[in-house]
Order: sequence, then structure tokens, then C-alpha cells
Amino acid sequence: MNHATRTKPAFPEGFLWGGAVAANQLEGAYNEGGKGLSTQDVAPRGIMGPITEAPTADNMKLIGIDFYHRYKEDIKLFAEMGFKVFRTSIAWARIFPNGDELEPNEEGLQFYDNVFDECRKYGIEPLVTISHYETPLHLSKTYDGWVNRKLIDYYLRFAETVFKRYKDKVNYWLTFNEINSILEAPFLSGGIYTPKEQLRKQDLYQAVHHELVASAAAVKLCHELIPGAQIGCMILSMPAYPLTPHPDDVIAAMEFEHKNYFFGDVHARGRYPGYMKRYFRERGITIQMEPGDEDILKHTVDFISFSYYMSVCQTADPAKAQAGRGNIIGGVPNPFLAESDWGWQIDPQGLRVVLNAFYDRYQKPLFIVENGLGAVDELVAGDDGVPTVKDDYRIAYLRDHLLQVAEALEDGVEIMGFTSWGCIDLVSATSAQLKKRYGFIYVDRHDDGSGTLERYRKQSFYWYKDVIATNGASLSEQR
Ligand code: BG6
Repeated sequence: MNHATRTKPAFPEGFLWGGAVAANQLEGAYNEGGKGLSTQDVAPRGIMGPITEAPTADNMKLIGIDFYHRYKEDIKLFAEMGFKVFRTSIAWARIFPNGDELEPNEEGLQFYDNVFDECRKYGIEPLVTISHYETPLHLSKTYDGWVNRKLIDYYLRFAETVFKRYKDKVNYWLTFNEINSILEAPFLSGGIYTPKEQLRKQDLYQAVHHELVASAAAVKLCHELIPGAQIGCMILSMPAYPLTPHPDDVIAAMEFEHKNYFFGDVHARGRYPGYMKRYFRERGITIQMEPGDEDILKHTVDFISFSYYMSVCQTADPAKAQAGRGNIIGGVPNPFLAESDWGWQIDPQGLRVVLNAFYDRYQKPLFIVENGLGAVDELVAGDDGVPTVKDDYRIAYLRDHLLQVAEALEDGVEIMGFTSWGCIDLVSATSAQLKKRYGFIYVDRHDDGSGTLERYRKQSFYWYKDVIATNGASLSEQR
């Protein structure tokens, strides 16, 4: 497959190279340091799976990769790779164990002080997602999560607490991880306890409205409290190609994309788009707006961040349409693309498509905060006898995507940085497995709970180190 690259990679000075993780997928220590339970602690089978009454031992996230106790060792390895930026999230229930307390939990705040200080020691900028798929369980059970408007106040209390505490340590913030995923995963993305099958569209979109208002209010607050900081939204991007050139398929692809663009449009333009008002009108959905909501939404983000793993096709033909397959949203498979071990189609050029589309639409800087390959890795003896993983497949995946980032830069797209997802192996969000590995660093832990938790550098570790050291120039030798 020709991925059509024609430029010599030229990444701008100061490009933020790094890696990304989320608290719930690597920290573990689910009941230490005064932390309350979160929605993740009762979701042992991943984002779409069933939930349990209480945490169960088979939930890999309870221990994760024990980053809570090993963050120093891990950040040292990130520094060895030359990271300029490290994206992580703050576990809301470490700071407000139930979510609706008036006072934060000092031990939780101290933990992130330690993590950010450790990053700063190596000159690594933290990029912090305020909420990444883990609402305090109490807020979910008692209030039905974001369906309830009170969540705006609780979230803003959390945001204000962390802005004030870390204002001298964190310059880059994201409000909600993959905010559009709430449409598919209302429990883990929106803390909505009502089962998805029983959830009315009216309530789902009301929850969306509350998150959008909270996000814009957090942007305003961040600008007031930390002058000079930059805050962005975070969208799950999934470009949709029409399955055929038939105009009905083109419209199907457009309407699919509108459902995702909706979130970026509100964050970047500060108002609801017309196509969404139509969607609500045609389905009898009436969003309850409080006075002042429309003004709050006008506080737009400084940059747009997004995850990109795959593209999909869309069709108007019900016989060919398929339910989601792939990263949470999913769509109809593209006959021209290969797929990963987990059936996610691989489309490096889709990243160039998304970068151009977002930039044309918003004219704001973009930040690729997730991209990577989840694969089965095998630990083998390295040439020096030290165990390693010969993950040339991961190197090829990342190289092909980064070459498309270079193409987009050449197209004139403004890109702040690239943080590869799961820079150290961690627990998967959709499948809750550790077997699905993304890292440059192998962690010896397995889905049956066995393993020493030792860390090992994979071949991709050295490859990424070289990419960063040469600011992307080494990619040109690899085409
Ligand atoms: C994104 C999430 O959906 O994709 C991450 O923001 C997640 O939390 C990542 O881990 C990869 O998905 P998965 O299911 O392979 O872990």
C-alpha cells in the first residue's frame, strides 16, 4: 500500500514530542491515598462492558501497571526517550473521593504534585486531561452523572482546585477526554448510570449540553487563574469516507461526521451548529438552557486536540451498514485497508485528512494527543541479553502516521505536538486487557494477574528516541 508521502519531514522548532496515558489505565492503587471509587473501578470488561456492584479482583485497572508507586522510574524512562511533553489525567476521585465534597483530599493533590515535579525535573511539560473516563462513582449513582446539571458545579470545583494547585507546574490542559464518546459510552464517558438501552436521547443530549457548558466554563476559569496557560478540547476523531460515490453514501458520511464535528464546533465556534438544531428538532429533543449558558459557550478553546486511530466508511444502504467496529464509535470497514490484531483499520493518510479538515474548519492550532498501535507483543532476549520486544510493526505504524503529520505540516496545518498513546503498556479502555499493548516500554503484567511489573525497553523505544532527537528528520530515511 502506497501511503503517498512526498515531502522531507520538517517539524517545527519546539514541536512537542511525547506520550500519553490516563490515570485509570495505569495508576492502580484504586483504594489508596484516600481515593474514592470511580466508574472505572466497577467496569472490569472495558468501556462497553457490564458493570459490577463493587470492584472485582478481575478488574485489571485496580492495579494497572502500578504507576502510582513507580512513577519515578517511568518518568525517568520517558526522559531517556527525550519526551518534551507527557499527557496524563487526574483521577477525579483522588481529589474529590465522592465528587460532591466541599474540600479536596490533600493526599491526592500531593500525588500529582509529585508526578508533575518529577516531569519538570527532566524538562518535560505535563499535558493534563482534567476528566478522562472516570467520574466518581457516587456522582454516577446518586446524580446519574452528567444528566444532572449539578455535575457542572462539581466539575468546576474540581477544575478550580487543580488549576490553583498546579498553576506553576502545568501549562497545557484538556477539559474532557474524547468528549464525543459519551454518545456511545454514556457510563464511562459521562458517568450516566442509567443503562444505555434505557437512556432517552433527550437525557443523553442534555448531559452533552452540561459537559459543553462545563468545558467552556473551565476554559474561562483557566484563562482567569493561569494567564499564559493553554486549554483545549479533546475529540475522538474518525474521518468517514463514503463507501461508494453514490450521493446517498456521501450524505451518510457527512451526517456521521456531523455527530463528531458538533463537539469541536461548539468548542471552537462557541455556539450550537445549525445541523444539530435540525437533528434535535426532527427528534423532538429540547435542550434545557439556563440563562447565561449561551454566553458561557462563547469561551472557546485555545487549541483542538484529538485522538486518531482509524477511519471508517459510511453508507446509506442498510444491507451494507454495520454496527461500530473499532475505537468506540466504529463504522463500515474500508476494503482497501489492513487492520490491527483488534480489528481497527490502519489508515495513516486518514490522519492527514483529519488534520486538514480540523484546520480548515477552525483555524486553530491542533495537537495529536493519541495515536498508536495496540498489538500482541512477545518479550524475547535482546542482542545484549536484556529482554526486549522486536516491535517493527509498531515502528512501521507510527512512522507511517508521522510521515502523514509531516505532509499535513507541509499543507500549512499548525500542529503543536504528538503524544503517542500508551507510551508505556497499560490497561486497554475498550477491552480492559493488558494484552493489547501500545507502549515503547513493556510492562510484565498479564491478564491473569501474573507478572513482576518489571519494565523493559522495546525496539520502538530506541526508534522513538531517535525520532525525537532529530526532531523527525530520521523519519525521512525510513520511507
Ligand atoms: C481512546 C482513549 O479511546 O483510545 C484511551 O482515550 C484508550 O483511553 C485509547 O486507551 C485506545 O483504546 P484501547 O481500547 O485500545 O485502549
